[in-house]
Amino acid sequence: MGSTTTATGPSLFSAATHYTSGIALIFPARSLPTIKFVGKKLTVACAAPSPPPPQFGRRALVYVATASFLMPFPSLASSTDEISLLQDEIRKVLSKGKAAGLLRLVFHDAGTFDQGDKTGGMNGSIVYELDRPENTGLAKSLKVLEKAKGGVDAVKPVSWADLIAVAGAEAVSVCGGPKIPVRLGRVDATVPDPDGKLPEETLKASAMKQIFQKKGFSTQELVALSGAHTLGSKGFGDPVVFDNSYYKILLEKPWASPGGMFSMVGLPSDRALVEDDECNRWITKYANDQDLFFEDFRNVYTKLVNTGAKWRTI
Ligand code: HEM
Repeated sequence: MGSTTTATGPSLFSAATHYTSGIALIFPARSLPTIKFVGKKLTVACAAPSPPPPQFGRRALVYVATASFLMPFPSLASSTDEISLLQDEIRKVLSKGKAAGLLRLVFHDAGTFDQGDKTGGMNGSIVYELDRPENTGLAKSLKVLEKAKGGVDAVKPVSWADLIAVAGAEAVSVCGGPKIPVRLGRVDATVPDPDGKLPEETLKASAMKQIFQKKGFSTQELVALSGAHTLGSKGFGDPVVFDNSYYKILLEKPWASPGGMFSMVGLPSDRALVEDDECNRWITKYANDQDLFFEDFRNVYTKLVNTGAKWRTI
């Protein structure tokens, strides 16, 4: 099986006995779980609810009577409340300018999945992997989410995996893309995923198709997911608008125009997709039909954020 996992909520405290590269877990601590960013390193401090006072008799009765009001993590009435809480806290820290980074975070957490040995996937392990070269710049996006996590944890602890999955969906939505419902209950890994699982930007389409196949994704799904590059600064239209301009611009191949003005548009891996017949057919479909792109992106995003996830059982 894949990486070791730990449940969210109070059992997150048990993770405090582990030490993993990049994360120092300090136990016990007096405050709610927080992550302190020191450069690219993360420090997780976990708190346990205080034990009852040692006195017995009337004071103990008062303690029992008030304990339910003082419990740090009152449970929410329903999963609808839970998702609303996450969305509210994420929207407090999310701006259109931060959306691209948050969406990229999703792929870099989930995209490590390997169907062969069932390692990787959407498990929050990205918090241990920030010093990998392919994750350059993502500490900033995680830092943005840390604030939202604090707000959610104060009501009910949330896993990084759930938080990142919902944040990516909110990022798409705030930029005008499809609304994507996200199931909750993912359990975080306690160790980093195996290294070298994300595709490199220099790959040809055939290699990219193979890599995505090993993660359980078809060519159509690879092309739909790659449409995420419509956000960000690679030249596919407005950097903060989620639409189908990625596909329209890919078909125009601006990088091939003389003059070099558009030579910076797209990554080599984006340009490679349009040269592959099978990918090109999907690129053309999505360029001509934004609704189809939105529908397929919604479906493949859902698949991505469930990929390799371990789910809590209560
Ligand atoms: C298909 C293989 C992929 C490769 C090789 C790849 C590689 C890259 C690279 C090299 C960057 C530029 C990072 C930088 O600016 O320094 C980037 C940006 C980005 N990637 Fe990907 N990516 C891939 C797929 C995906 C997928 C599936 C998603 C999300 C579902 C995604 C989301 C993004 C986003 C949103 C950005 C813009 C980030 C920003 O401007 O802050 N990528 N990607």
